[in-house]
Amino acid sequence: MTNKDTLYRTTEGPIKPFQFNQHVADVFPDMIERSVPGYPLTISMLSVIAGQYAQENSNIYDLGCSLGAGSMAIQQGLKTKMCKIIGIDNSPAMINLCNKNISQYTKVNKIHFELSDILQTTIKDASIVVMNFTLQFVPLDKRLSLINKIYEGLLPSGVLILSEKILFDDEIENNTMQKLHHHVKEFNGYEQLEIANKRDALEKILIPETLNNHQDRIKKAGFENSITWLKCLNFVSLIAQK
Ligand SMILES: C[S@@+](CC[C@H](N)C(=O)[O-])C[C@H]1O[C@@H](n2cnc3c(N)ncnc32)[C@H](O)[C@@H]1O
Repeated sequence: MTNKDTLYRTTEGPIKPFQFNQHVADVFPDMIERSVPGYPLTISMLSVIAGQYAQENSNIYDLGCSLGAGSMAIQQGLKTKMCKIIGIDNSPAMINLCNKNISQYTKVNKIHFELSDILQTTIKDASIVVMNFTLQFVPLDKRLSLINKIYEGLLPSGVLILSEKILFDDEIENNTMQKLHHHVKEFNGYEQLEIANKRDALEKILIPETLNNHQDRIKKAGFENSITWLKCLNFVSLIAQK
């Protein structure tokens, strides 16, 4: 049973910058499912990707794991493969809940949740690195060094899965996608006030880029190519192989 997200149903201002604090952690599954079009499919496909790309005795990282939905999907896809899944987040509220919830799952003994900054953490012997809607919260000037570090930490043929909210160079396309995203939130039960408040809270915190920006950076880091395997409005997921 997940708690309903009503955090931004308030007329009291000013709206504070968004933080992944206890209030957000408590409603996070409802918040992300109602806000990110295609999120459930992104998560369930991680099981398929893990089954396909996990290498025996390697590490698998879920960077910015929040409540561990991605880590658990990966775990389910591994079947009998032996890997170490490492979910990392710098929000104590998120990691505390991950560790609390882990006891509810019998098979998750291979997931290790760590409270740490992904900009500081070591990535090594990885067959898969997932960054599901996390890079968009990393300062722009730190993104290339992070992707470089991931590339260096991947084993040969290892993959990066990068999911992000994106912008479009074409103004009409950009406006259309943003409008449709707004309507998705409305359709999912958010009021206009909540949508506007959350947009204010996320301004300067969630910095989206274009698909080209992401592809260029991934290429610069050394990956041969990056393939868009999922796109839903202004949300995409890419797979890049070393
Ligand atoms: C949108 S959520 C990710 C959702 C999650 N990956 C999923 O699929 O359910 C972004 C997460 O990244 C974390 N985060 C942002 N910057 C981080 C950093 N520098 N180091 C570690 N975690 C970070 C936040 O605390 C938050 O939990």
